[in-house]
Amino acid sequence: MIEAATAAGEHVVLRLLNVESAYGPIKAIRGVSLKVRRSEIATVLGSNGAGKTTILKTISGIIDPRKGSIEFKGEDITARDPALIVQRGLSHVPEGREVFPLLSVHDNLLMGAYTRSDRDGVAKDMALVFRYFPILKERELQHAGLLSGGQQQMLSISRALMAAPELMLLDEPSLGLSPKLTKEIFEIVVRINRERGTTILLVEQNANMALNASDYGYVLENGRIVMEDTCAKLREKDDIKEFYLGMQDSGVRGERRWKKKKTWR
Ligand SMILES: Nc1ncnc2c1ncn2[C@@H]1O[C@H](COP(=O)(O)OP(=O)(O)OP(=O)(O)O)[C@@H](O)[C@H]1O
Ligand SMILES: [Mg+2]
Repeated sequence: MIEAATAAGEHVVLRLLNVESAYGPIKAIRGVSLKVRRSEIATVLGSNGAGKTTILKTISGIIDPRKGSIEFKGEDITARDPALIVQRGLSHVPEGREVFPLLSVHDNLLMGAYTRSDRDGVAKDMALVFRYFPILKERELQHAGLLSGGQQQMLSISRALMAAPELMLLDEPSLGLSPKLTKEIFEIVVRINRERGTTILLVEQNANMALNASDYGYVLENGRIVMEDTCAKLREKDDIKEFYLGMQDSGVRGERRWKKKKTWR
């Protein structure tokens, strides 16, 4: 497959163009366009109900979009079968982990590799995820349902890695975890990106963690992208500081300023 190389020579692995998805009459995302470059961590920030999960489900083929197109490594994958999309090298860590509670940790990991036939590669990747998350090795034969929330998140990420993805979609890995565990998980996500070269698209409500871990970011509100920039620049923007990083600017304009900023103008 030929990847689209832009003028700057960056290789775009994933491209969404004007994607619109709905649940019956409810439009959840409205004309979303974004791109993810090879080897970067990109993030979509948005509050509750903004449409983050819908974007990821539409990319991985769980939801078919009403409009728009999705390209992965130069191939149109819009509304394709999710299993085929995994096989192409794109795996999804769902919101709320969704491990198989009655299967062992080991068998959950094997489920992640179900599209693969290279046994040696699967064994190597199993060893790799145990290096990232040694606790999973200790718990290898236990039911996944007995793991803590943080350990289940580790298992869910590891299961996605077992598909040997080039691009991993991560849906709110911080959900329900303590700040300490969230930090640990994010450190490993960054290591996976740097060491394994996995491209990552992360969606988060936790803007602080996401902006620190990622290279490029999009801000989603009511199903639309309202802002995008490098994370270094986004971290400096007043709107982001106030609404997503919770650092109230104690400036003079007070309430009126808050209202003005909420519209992202
Ligand atoms: N299965 C569904 N049926 C109907 N509406 C849905 C469904 N799932 C999501 N929605 C609606 O679509 C919109 C976007 O939801 P989505 O789950 O993508 O948001 P989100 O950004 O992931 O939110 P959160 O941070 O709470 O996970 C919301 O208005 C939500 O109520
Ligand atoms: Mg969600």
